Amino acid sequence: MSEKVIIKEVAARDGLQAQPQHLTVEQRIALLAALADAGVPELEIGSFVSPKAVPQMAGTDEIAANLPVADLAYSALVPNMKGYELAVRAGIRSHAIALAATEEMNQNNIRKSLEDTFVMGEEILDRAATEGVAIHAYLAVAFECPYEGAVSEALVLDQVARLMAHKPARLVIADTIGAANPAAVQSMMQKLVDRYGPELLGCHFHDTRAMGLANVYAALLAGVRQFDASAGGLGGCPFAPGAKGNVATEDVAMLCESIGYTTDLNMPKLLDAVALLSEMIGAPQGGRAHTWLSKQCA
Ligand code: COA
Ligand code: ZN
Repeated sequence: MSEKVIIKEVAARDGLQAQPQHLTVEQRIALLAALADAGVPELEIGSFVSPKAVPQMAGTDEIAANLPVADLAYSALVPNMKGYELAVRAGIRSHAIALAATEEMNQNNIRKSLEDTFVMGEEILDRAATEGVAIHAYLAVAFECPYEGAVSEALVLDQVARLMAHKPARLVIADTIGAANPAAVQSMMQKLVDRYGPELLGCHFHDTRAMGLANVYAALLAGVRQFDASAGGLGGCPFAPGAKGNVATEDVAMLCESIGYTTDLNMPKLLDAVALLSEMIGAPQGGRAHTWLSKQCA
C-alpha cells in the first residue's frame, strides 16, 4: 500500500482572508461543501478573529453551524484566547494558532510582542489539552519575515522546542511569504523529523517565488507527510506584504500522486471547486498545472 500524504485545505481561510472582495457566508459554505466533496481530509473553515482586523472572516461562527456533513476534520484559525473560546462555543474542536518567529510580524499580525505571543500560545495549548481540543501550532515566517528579513534555523528550532513542550497536535512550519528554498526546507525539516517524528509535523508553503512545489518535495524527502494547500493557489496574509498564494491543492496532489503517494483527493471534483472559487472571486484561479490537469480531467 502506498504511503499517504494528508492535505489540509486552507482556501476558505488563508485563501479568502486577503481577497479584496468579501464572499458572503452562503458563498463560503458553498465553497466548503465543494471542497469537502473533493475528498479533502482536513478543511480549515475560516478564522475567529476581530472582524475589524480581517472583515473577510466575519461570520465564521455561522459557517461552523452550517458545515456540510462530511467525514473529515474541520478546523479554524484563532488569534488569541477570545478566538479559542468563540471557536469552541461554535463547536470547532481543532484550532490553528499562528505564532510568528519574529517580533515585528507578531506586532503586525496580532499586536503582541514575540514573548507575549508565545506565552499566549502556551496558555492556549495547555488549556486545549485539558479540554480535549486539538491545536495545530503554526510557526509563521519561519524562513523569512517581511519586516525583519532572514530568520535563522537555530532560532526556529529553539522556538519549536518551546512549543513542543506544550504538546500541540501538530507543529506547522509556515513559510508565510514564500521565501523558503528547498535546501533550507530540507535542512530544517530533517532536523525536526529526526527530533519529533513526522506525525507531529506539517508544512505550509506559499508560492511567491515559484518554489512552493519544490519546497513541498524537499519536505517530503525529509519525511514530512502533512501539508497545507489552497485550492486554486488562492492565498496570502493581509499583514505580510508580498505574500502570494499558497501552493495549490491540485498541484500538491498531482506531485504526491505522481511519485507514488496517495492523497484520496478526487481531482475532477477539486477542479470543480476551483471553478466555483473562480466564479465567486470573479477571476480565474488555478495552480501551475491548471491547464494540463483540466485537459486530463475533461
Ligand atoms: N474574535 C473576535 N473579536 C475579537 C477577538 C477575536 N478573536 N479578539 C479580540 N476581539 C475584539 C475585542 O473584543 C475588541 O472588540 P471591541 O472593539 O468591540 O471592544 C477588539 O477586538 C479589540 O480587542 P483587542 O484585544 O484590543 O485586540 P487588538 O485590537 O489588539 O487586535 C487581534 C488583536 C488578534 C484580535 C487582531 O489583531 C486580529 O484579529 N488579528 C487577526 C490576525 C489574522 O487573522 N492574521 C492572518 C492569519 S495568520
Ligand atoms: Zn499562509
